Amino acid sequence: MKMKNIPWASPHYWGNEERYVVDALQSSWISGGAYVERLEEDFARYCDVPYAIAASNGTTALHMAYLALDIRPGDEVIVPGFGFMAAANIALHVGAKPVFSEVDADSWCMTAHDIERCITPKTKAIVPIHTYGNVCDMVPIMELADSRGLRVVEDAAEAIGSKYMGRMAGTIAPLGVFSFHATKTITTGEGGAVVTSSLELSDRMRLFRSHGMAARRYWHEVAGHNFRLTNIQAAIGCAQLEQIDAISKERDRVYKTYTKLLQNTLGVRFQYYSNKVDPVVWAVAIVLDAFAFPQGRDAVIEQLKQMGIETRPGFCSANTMHHIYGNMQLPVCEHLSEQVISLPSGPTLTEEEIEYVCASFKSCKK
Ligand SMILES: Cc1ncc(COP(=O)(O)O)c(C=O)c1O
Repeated sequence: MKMKNIPWASPHYWGNEERYVVDALQSSWISGGAYVERLEEDFARYCDVPYAIAASNGTTALHMAYLALDIRPGDEVIVPGFGFMAAANIALHVGAKPVFSEVDADSWCMTAHDIERCITPKTKAIVPIHTYGNVCDMVPIMELADSRGLRVVEDAAEAIGSKYMGRMAGTIAPLGVFSFHATKTITTGEGGAVVTSSLELSDRMRLFRSHGMAARRYWHEVAGHNFRLTNIQAAIGCAQLEQIDAISKERDRVYKTYTKLLQNTLGVRFQYYSNKVDPVVWAVAIVLDAFAFPQGRDAVIEQLKQMGIETRPGFCSANTMHHIYGNMQLPVCEHLSEQVISLPSGPTLTEEEIEYVCASFKSCKK
């Protein structure tokens, strides 16, 4: 079977995107505007929290959250060693030190046990990352944080719509951060948001988002930033959010087809989701056994590329980037970083395309 190229993911417009963007353009409100407010209201309602604060991307959303929590030089922020490194990099940008924990070998998320070993008198905050749409086991993490007086920010950038014990990812800790990047479950091109139940934190993030100005124009209450999302981008987000149930359903179909076709393949292990988690899988990811794939994960990526299939490697483990983060031992993270491969994961993949990906993938096995 020969197929056209299959990208790892590509954005899809599900309904009113174009109409709302044209409306935003015609309104002349192209910086802030009514779609930003609507996206914040709709996203807060979707997450079942009082407040959502839109941002220009997921990374600036994290920055806004850290500033609201007053994370500053001398503080330590515990982040997982396997995951997208925005949470660690923003710790560095506010002058704090990222301290990397191991992750669980099956769920690929950090646990309370991993975190506890990283706590020092300087620890200010914990940032669990809900990698690939999984959700960290948040109850023990919150119990640990509360018992030590630590702040928690959930990095739910990859977990829009995932649930943990019936609650939306990102709403269990006082602050939850999301990304609306082009590949994410809903997109605004570039964009993000923080959700919270705290009016005080919400106000503080809004202050930092817009130059530290509130009541009086050109009066800076704090040294703020510009973390704002545009009305044009928010218009796309409003249209996407209208369709989020359909999008999630398609993601579920894609994930189930992959598991049906690959779960009994020797040398392949899927990321583990506990029964507390009802995921919207952002990335269908598996860890390869070196006996079945002796050529190595990167060679498998290359072989699939030759067959027209774009895949992604697992995240680079923090200990492999000592030029930024220093030296540490993280054997589980390092193993995942070498052996994880993420297959095309977009919600518009057809059953035929998934079958082609799986057959091609199996042909790489020795
Ligand atoms: C876990 C995680 N955190 C943060 C981000 C940053 O989001 P953005 O790319 O919107 O800045 C990403 C995005 O790729 C991510 O996957």
